[in-house]
Amino acid sequence: MGNPFNPGAGRKPPYLAGRGQVTSSVKADMQRVYDDSEGMRPVIVSGLRGMGKTVLLRELDDFARSQGWVAIWVEASKGDSLARKLAQAIYVELRRLRSAERLTGRAFEHALAVLRSFQLKIDPSGAYSFGIDIDPAKGYADSGDLSLDLGDLLGALGEAARDAGTAVLICIDELQEASIDDLRALNVALHNIGQGSAPVPVFFVGAGLPTLPAVLAEASTYAERMYRFYTLDTLEPEAAKAAYVEPVEEYGSRWEGDALNAAIEAAAGYPYFIQQCGFCICEQIEPPAAITVVEVAAGIELAREELARGLYRSRWDRATMKGKEFMRAMAIDDGASQLGDIAQRMGKKSANGLSVLRDRLIRDGLIYAPERGYVAFTVPGMADYIERAEEM
Ligand SMILES: Nc1ncnc2c1ncn2[C@@H]1O[C@H](COP(=O)(O)OP(=O)(O)O)[C@@H](O)[C@H]1O
Ligand SMILES: [Mg+2]
Repeated sequence: MGNPFNPGAGRKPPYLAGRGQVTSSVKADMQRVYDDSEGMRPVIVSGLRGMGKTVLLRELDDFARSQGWVAIWVEASKGDSLARKLAQAIYVELRRLRSAERLTGRAFEHALAVLRSFQLKIDPSGAYSFGIDIDPAKGYADSGDLSLDLGDLLGALGEAARDAGTAVLICIDELQEASIDDLRALNVALHNIGQGSAPVPVFFVGAGLPTLPAVLAEASTYAERMYRFYTLDTLEPEAAKAAYVEPVEEYGSRWEGDALNAAIEAAAGYPYFIQQCGFCICEQIEPPAAITVVEVAAGIELAREELARGLYRSRWDRATMKGKEFMRAMAIDDGASQLGDIAQRMGKKSANGLSVLRDRLIRDGLIYAPERGYVAFTVPGMADYIERAEEM
């Protein structure tokens, strides 16, 4: 057996630790969508980088597929039209289901025709067109108002799924990257299909950075009430322990003496670090040999180095001199930093002069504002990295 740990963005962990409550609650909602053939409140999962948002989304996507659902997956990115990506992903899934003869009949043909209308409306030039050999559905998804058209598309998709005795899951990862117009359209569309006179079995889960709830609320004020929000935080010590222990048992090894506690302490509950550290530790042993504090100490060092390479250094290097000065002043704090403190540490009289710099760092995804007057890093462990980098 190869190394049991799986570090890296979106890589499925061997054991998904500490997320039982979120997954079972969302899966129960999904079950209800399926049973009642109606929508449930859409879900938003937010958290810092490396907390496990993408793998949680994948878990739900796998679950949906295993139940025979229509499952759509999109990763939003800056500068790309979310509507176009959604249309593309829906097309790919519908084509797959058609060739597998899993979806057929009138409702399905109608969904394809609505998708065709939608596609023509968002991309009249046909530059990104994909081959739907079907006439557009007149009067559907062709108003030119993205929110209405998206609602038509999701509605038709939901009806086709219901007709086939199933339901639809739509997952959008990195949702904070979508434009405010696309987010507004998404909010309206989800609102309409959820509350319309003929609700459809469509379930939505979006994931993104901690700023996402605020961004959605900025797009539409009712977003705060419409979505069910879940926050992914660091793992509790018990969950972190399970994340380390289960894969190692599978591997045919075990933790000896204080080895496990040292590894748990170094991770501070950060899932990404656990995968990386477990990986670096297991690289050094040959089962059935046990893991001792020696391998753990080396593993921690290697994992820090890997995370520095993959997460921290690129972010640090991306910042300007001024930006670095700002982040150095932040790194002194354990949690979020108050703007007034940062100003003082940078030798400024007030925080007012820092807003341009702060906004720039927020735009670059390095920091975010957890609440008014505060800023924090978007990756856990960034402050430690900066302090260590400064010592070298
Ligand atoms: N609950 C968990 N238990 C164990 N490992 C996890 C867990 N959640 C995430 N990971 C690991 O952490 C890393 C980052 O996960 P990812 O889903 O990409 O985070 P995010 O999308 O929040 O940035 C991956 O290597 C993944 O396997
Ligand atoms: Mg992710």
